[in-house]
Amino acid sequence: MEFVPITSLERRKKAEALVIPYWKTKKGIEAAVPLGALSQLVELPLKTDDFTAKEGELLFIYVQRQEEPRFVLLGLGDKEKLTTERLRRAYASFVKGCMVKKIKEVNVLYPENSSLSPELSLRGVLEGMLLANYRFDFLKRDALKECPSVILEKASFITTYKDFASLAKETSTICDGVYLARNLVNGNADDVTPQFLVKQAELMAKKNSRLKVTAFNKKRIEKEKMGLLLAVNRGSVREPAFIIIEYKGNPKSSDRTVIVGKGVTYDTGGLNLKPTGSMETMKCDMAGAAACLGTMQAVAALGLKVNVTAVIPSTENAISDTSYKPGDVYVGYAGKSVEIGNTDAEGRLILADALAYACKNLKPTRIIDLATLTGSIGIALGDEATGLMSNDDILADSLIRAGSETFERVWRLPIFEEYRELLRSQIADISNIGGRGAGASTGAVFLQEFVGKTPWAHLDIASTGNLKEALRYHPKSGTGIGVRLLVELLQHLE
Ligand code: BES
Ligand code: MN
Ligand code: ZN
Repeated sequence: MEFVPITSLERRKKAEALVIPYWKTKKGIEAAVPLGALSQLVELPLKTDDFTAKEGELLFIYVQRQEEPRFVLLGLGDKEKLTTERLRRAYASFVKGCMVKKIKEVNVLYPENSSLSPELSLRGVLEGMLLANYRFDFLKRDALKECPSVILEKASFITTYKDFASLAKETSTICDGVYLARNLVNGNADDVTPQFLVKQAELMAKKNSRLKVTAFNKKRIEKEKMGLLLAVNRGSVREPAFIIIEYKGNPKSSDRTVIVGKGVTYDTGGLNLKPTGSMETMKCDMAGAAACLGTMQAVAALGLKVNVTAVIPSTENAISDTSYKPGDVYVGYAGKSVEIGNTDAEGRLILADALAYACKNLKPTRIIDLATLTGSIGIALGDEATGLMSNDDILADSLIRAGSETFERVWRLPIFEEYRELLRSQIADISNIGGRGAGASTGAVFLQEFVGKTPWAHLDIASTGNLKEALRYHPKSGTGIGVRLLVELLQHLE
């Protein structure tokens, strides 16, 4: 979407709609911006009770002799309760309303002078619009001919904000990272393979010379003795991949954030096969990898002055006579032996090799892994927060802060040392499953075995990375969660 600043209402050009925001007040409703001569035109519709200015409420009215044939009255809710997130939601609702009417060009009024800073208001409006302005329709054929989807192409903002252009560009760059992550999650599992992720990383590096990609193929992975990644890969006809993407935005500093993303391109469960009803969404199981790719693209395009390396272990978890077996023991990169209690707990296995590799070779100041690791996290937190487990309070708090800035909220769960008992194996160093309780935490306790003393945080995005139904500015399926969160965290480290 192209963003254009216009200095006053009078200077605006023709468009298909003008959005006018309203507060809900004790007395009734109140325009959130000065409307001048336009206020006459909205007088009549506002006399009805059709519009109460509840957050996200829309009323389309049709007007004559204006730059736009439609005005869209948009509710912002209580003036006193305004937050960046409320603006995101309200303006997302406006964009979704436009998409239904196949509107491509709009003029935008938004509250510049509210209790929020001008920057935070504009950021909320831009993000809400961009995040909502997305369609997952690249797998449709005839359906698209009958009903082509239309997304917004141009939004002219009536604004006096002096850094409009740079804020619009920055927000668009970050949201492009979100779109990339969503598209990778939503793509067919038979298209988005480990090799496809390698290509995607290489393509990104081609476009931005500040990114350096190293990809290990199966032979190299064998040479590195990543026995756990290889174990999970055994049932698949496709080779595994181990991708490293380096970005050096601050060469003088030794500070380095390593982000690790689970890249299971399809999770059948393996020999512990998932039942019908549990497998259909499993092309989402590389959402952690997708978030890492989206983040790296954004970080490089923004030119952040930080050092970041993404590490992506990737494979399918397929079923075959060659599949790895429950009850067998495999030794990974760290040299620890792991008894396979359940082949469906494969994410932690490939992450174990990636975390151990990162700690040994990449000199991480901190490691953050993102993974669709457990169904348990959805039971605990639903779709409203990503699970956070960490061995470091400072890192955990900085993620919590970034989470509330971006509203990609994270909620910390414990990794009590007592949980380690649940992973005890009679025949190996550790088992890959615990009991029924504390499923998200035992997953994290397993991962913790492979990070040593490095400050580390694990983000379980199994519920937030892929949604069964659209939620506010998140479309159904891939959300791209993690990208805005990590970019915010990294910007704070600059
Ligand atoms: N990929 C799944 C987790 C998942 C579940 C992601 C639902 C998205 C939606 C993961 O590999 C898995 O199967 N986890 C098991 C772990 C168990 C066997 C210890 C689970 O959560 O049941
Ligand atoms: Mn699984
Ligand atoms: Zn999985």
